Formats: sequence, structure tokens, C-alpha cells
Amino acid sequence: MANTQTDHPRISSARPEMTQAIMERTGLDQAMLTNLVHSFYGKIRTDAVLGPIFVSRILDWPPHLERMVSFWSSVALMTGSYHGAPVPAHAHLPVTWVHFERWLALFRETAVEVCTPAGAAHVIERAERIARSLNMAVENATRTAANAIPLLR
Ligand code: HEM
Repeated sequence: MANTQTDHPRISSARPEMTQAIMERTGLDQAMLTNLVHSFYGKIRTDAVLGPIFVSRILDWPPHLERMVSFWSSVALMTGSYHGAPVPAHAHLPVTWVHFERWLALFRETAVEVCTPAGAAHVIERAERIARSLNMAVENATRTAANAIPLLR
């Protein structure tokens, strides 16, 4: 059936009405998020600070990019398509807030390049919130590991 309400094609979502409303409000859609993820990790891979951390851990990029598109589809459009666990994937990385700041700088730059202004604001706000909570998870894991060292002596 033709979609008469909007230019956006309907996408598979656990909450189709909510997803549709966000797409209309922000201009985001699956193609824009796919472009965002691919362009962003293109920059990450060649970045002097973050590149080596990603390149040494992600050996097969197509599945990672696919996972990240479904992550952003879940986070930005509430499709429910991502079923992973970001916290354990980051908790033991050799990173501090400086790395998250760099990650966010590249993400903001890419979002502004590939998304509508409202779409960029929408994904940037969510990225900032998630970066803060992942950084806290890294700090907690580091603190727990440091506290455990005397017990090992
Ligand atoms: C210092 C910044 C960051 C670094 C160095 C980093 C690095 C990584 C690496 C190496 C992986 C692959 C882990 C694995 O497969 O074993 C990964 C996965 C992932 N990252 Fe990050 N990341 C950073 C920030 C972020 C932020 C801010 C977000 C979200 C806004 C994010 C979302 C994810 C997600 C969803 C996965 C997939 C987790 C899974 O389902 O397995 N990352 N990241």
C-alpha cells in the first residue's frame, strides 16, 4: 500500500508508529543512518588516536558495521533491531574521557555532514549521553580492577 503520509518508506520496527513519527520529525531514515555509520567508521579507522584501538580489535568490519547500523536504528528510531551489550564491549578498552571526546568530535562532524539538521541534533544528543555512560563503565571497571590488585598480593 502506498504511504500517503510521508516521503519516508516504512521500515521494520517493533514500534512502527513511534518510528514513523521520529522519522517525520527528524528526517532520519535507514539510508541516512547507514551512511552515517559507514562514513563515521571510515573516519575512525584512519584517525591517529582512535584508529589503532579499533583496527587491532575489529578484524572483520562488515559485521561490525551491520551491528552498528542496527544499534543506531534502535537508538535513534526505536526500531528494537539491536540486541547486543555495549557495556562489556567497552569496559576494558584502554580509553579515558579524552578518547570519548575524540569519538564524539568525529561523530558530530559526520552527523552534520550526512544528516538533516534535526536528524544530526537527534543522533548527537543520544551519542553524547551513551558516551558518558560508557565512560563511567570504563572508569568503574578500572577502579574495580585497581581495588582487586591488593587482594592478589
Ligand atoms: C573511546 C571511544 C570508543 C572506542 C575506542 C570504541 C571501541 C569499540 C570497539 C573496539 C568495539 C568492538 C568490540 C568487540 O567486538 O569486541 C566497539 C563496539 C561497539 N561500540 Fe564502541 N567504542 C567507543 C565509543 C562508543 C560509543 C560512544 C558508542 C555509542 C554511542 C559505541 C557503541 C558501540 C556498540 C553498540 C558496539 C557493539 C557492541 C556489541 O553489540 O558487541 N562505542 N566499540
